Amino acid sequence: MNSWLYSEKVKDHFMNPRNIMFNDEDFEYDAMGKTGNIKCGDEMIFYLKIDPETLIITDCRWKTFGCASAIASTSVLSEMIKGMSLDDTYNISNVDIMEELGGLPDNKVHCSVLGDKALQEAINNYYITHGMEDRVHDTKSRIVCECLNVSEEEIEHAVLEGVRNYYQLQEMTKVGTSCGKCEEDARERLTFYLDRHFGIKEIN
Ligand code: FES
Repeated sequence: MNSWLYSEKVKDHFMNPRNIMFNDEDFEYDAMGKTGNIKCGDEMIFYLKIDPETLIITDCRWKTFGCASAIASTSVLSEMIKGMSLDDTYNISNVDIMEELGGLPDNKVHCSVLGDKALQEAINNYYITHGMEDRVHDTKSRIVCECLNVSEEEIEHAVLEGVRNYYQLQEMTKVGTSCGKCEEDARERLTFYLDRHFGIKEIN
């Protein structure tokens, strides 16, 4: 049998997930966020209990139909966020989660985004349902390339799928292949997502 490609910590969190919602237990929550699509088998839901005075997360639960990497990433994330403020929590990135986990195989990094995104939705849900709309983070994806209708989200997705330079990004998304005026913006977004998800600071 092949050996596992995962770190001991990933295996531990996959086998013994923390703060997971089993059988819809009676967990009273103040906010809920959902991402993914159950038809694709990768839905993730995050539930938060929040102190209204300090806006600190006091407890949480989550559930998913995602894979081992999604389960381990979200499990470790659920431990990281207890005692953190909502705004600090919103800024947790994949790199932070992967550092905590001791790494993930490159082709599994995109799975760790699920918990992160559901958590961000839950934070925005709290602000919206508690009269703090001015604190909501904008999650709408901006169009970077008007000619080919390529959004920031598509560039992020391409990075998570393995794109590492501008040429590969063009191959996958066709960004910048018409008038070319979006190139600087597209390169900037590519650099941003490579750093955010993989800690890569320079591209070719
Ligand atoms: S705006 Fe991207 S190619 Fe024209």
